[in-house]
Amino acid sequence: MKFATDVIHAAYNNEDHKRAIMPPLYQNSMFAMHEINENVPFKYSRLSNPTRKILEDTIAELEHGTHGFAFGSGIAGIDCIFRTFLRPNDTIVAVSDLYGGCHDLLQIYAQWGVNVIFADLTQPENLDKILAEHQVKMLWLETPSNPLLRLVDIELLAKKAKAHGAIVGIDNTFATPYLQNPIDMGCDIVFHSATKYLCGHSDVLLGLVAVNGKEFAKPMQMMLPATGAIAGPMDCWLVLRGIKTLAVRMEQHQKNAQILAERLEKHPAIAKVYYPGLPSHEHHELAKRQMRGFGGVVTVCLKNDTIEAVNSVIQNMDMIYLASSLGGVESLVNHCYSQSHSGMPHDLKIELGIKLGLLRFSVGIEDIDDIYADIDKALQTTL
Ligand SMILES: Cc1ncc(COP(=O)(O)O)c(C=O)c1O
Repeated sequence: MKFATDVIHAAYNNEDHKRAIMPPLYQNSMFAMHEINENVPFKYSRLSNPTRKILEDTIAELEHGTHGFAFGSGIAGIDCIFRTFLRPNDTIVAVSDLYGGCHDLLQIYAQWGVNVIFADLTQPENLDKILAEHQVKMLWLETPSNPLLRLVDIELLAKKAKAHGAIVGIDNTFATPYLQNPIDMGCDIVFHSATKYLCGHSDVLLGLVAVNGKEFAKPMQMMLPATGAIAGPMDCWLVLRGIKTLAVRMEQHQKNAQILAERLEKHPAIAKVYYPGLPSHEHHELAKRQMRGFGGVVTVCLKNDTIEAVNSVIQNMDMIYLASSLGGVESLVNHCYSQSHSGMPHDLKIELGIKLGLLRFSVGIEDIDDIYADIDKALQTTL
């Protein structure tokens, strides 16, 4: 099946659910048994739940994996991956251009004795040096990255890491399975903050993981119910509903994002636009090769790189609100320095390019002229 069909029909057989056309919500903590030790598929919802199972099977199918897992938040999903596969003295190499919350989480793992190495893997040879010096247990990628939308070469890096026996995991939140399938490029584990595009309506926190193969699935199947960070049935049901429109939403998100990026690139108040769909983007060629589109996030740096200018933009937009998430139908703006990357030390933020004047737009599916008019009006106040 093609993707737009798959998001509607994947992993759901209505014969298993009284022929209900849409996946039902099993809002139950437990399921009845007729006798002790009866072999029933569902007993207790921390272990498994029918609505969660449909969502887990859906993400496995959409990401071309073998097994899926659903968590109470994205970060709970990343934590479960690290908790399952990393032990004290193990080494994890993560892209330095990483979602702030994942960066913070890895600091905790470092306190527990995991050797955490951040590396600029936009230069793939940096991985060679690390692999030559360390026994790397896991490589953790994020591409396109949050907020600068930098890309790394998934296939190349996965090949290098796997040749040294490392597990390769990737945060595919920004691309979604609509734009890239990292398992097809050699990754073992694909993670999504489904809070973003997969849900698509800004009303759920949820993490999804797809793995490729029993050797990754079995330990996760032990860890998830044991640590209990599962997604609730209602949230799974909402994400299942959101996924059905993923293809049409992503198409409109990226159509709007491309137009916005092109217009903002010419705007007198803007110093730089970061969008992989622009020929000026440092990884435009890789994006064309690796992805099936460029996504719905556009980041800009104001010429007036001050907190006063940033506040003026935020206060003068009427439709676009300041909020810390992305991927919903509505356009939003995020001030990366003080929101998504607030936990990062100032010097590191500056080193990574997360300046005061940086604003990340999650471009919604409203009419692009209304989106641009709202942003343009606010930008004029910084001139
Ligand atoms: C790229 C990326 N990964 C992971 C997360 C964490 O997901 P959640 O907020 O659902 O826990 C986020 C959240 O902003 C994100 O943007």
